[in-house]
Amino acid sequence: MSLIAPSILAADFAHLERDVKMINASAADWIHLDVMDGVFVPNISFGMPVIEAIKRHAAKPLDVHLMIVQPERYIETFRKIGADVITVHLEASTHLHRTVQQIHATGAQAGVAINPHTSVDLLEDVLAQIDLVCLMSVNPGFGGQKFIERTYEKVRRLRTLIQKTGSQAKIEIDGGVNSENAPQLLAAGADVLVAGNFVFAAANPREVIARLKGQQVA
Ligand code: DX5
Ligand code: ZN
Repeated sequence: MSLIAPSILAADFAHLERDVKMINASAADWIHLDVMDGVFVPNISFGMPVIEAIKRHAAKPLDVHLMIVQPERYIETFRKIGADVITVHLEASTHLHRTVQQIHATGAQAGVAINPHTSVDLLEDVLAQIDLVCLMSVNPGFGGQKFIERTYEKVRRLRTLIQKTGSQAKIEIDGGVNSENAPQLLAAGADVLVAGNFVFAAANPREVIARLKGQQVA
C-alpha cells in the first residue's frame, strides 16, 4: 500500500496546529516539510523553529525535504528538532555519499531528491545506501504547479534500477500529485505520494487524503 505525505507548504501557516491535527486524524502516513533557502530554489519557505513547533503536535513521522545548498551543514540540527526522514538534493550535494552516511549516523532515514532534468541513472552508485528517492515531478520551489508527465517514465526506470542494485529505497513523487495521476504513478512503481495543494485546497482535506490512500493502481 502506498504512503501519503501531505505537504505543509500548502497548509494555512496561521493555523498550523489545526492543520497538523487534521493530518494526525487522517489516513496520511507522513508529514512532508519543504525547507527552501532562496538560493537552491528561488523561494524561501520555513526553517527550524517552525518544524520544531510542528513536531510538538505531530503524531506522524516528519519527512523533511531540504531544498537548500550545502545541506550537510544542517543534518544534525534537523534530526534534533524531530526529522524522521531527511532528504537532500543530489544537485546540492558535492559529496552525496558522505551526506547519506551523515544522515544515517543521526538515526534518520536518508532520502535523495532529483530535479526533473536529472537522470535517475545518476543515482545508481548510491541507491543501495539510501531509504528513499524523491522524484521531483515539478521544478522545486513552489506548490501548486503542473505535474510533469515525463515522471512516469522516470519512475519505471528507477524501479528497474532499484531492483538491479538490490536497493530497498522507496520511490516518492513530489509535485502536482492528484487523483488523476496517482493511479498511474502507483502502477509505474511509486511508493510515497506527496500532495500539497490537492489536499489543502479541498473542502474536505481528510476525505482527499483517504481517497489518495485508497487509490487503486491504474
Ligand atoms: C515543491 C515542494 C512540494 C510541494 C508540493 O518544491 O517540494 O513538496 O509542496 O506541492 P503541490 O502538491 O501543490 O505541487
Ligand atoms: Zn517537497
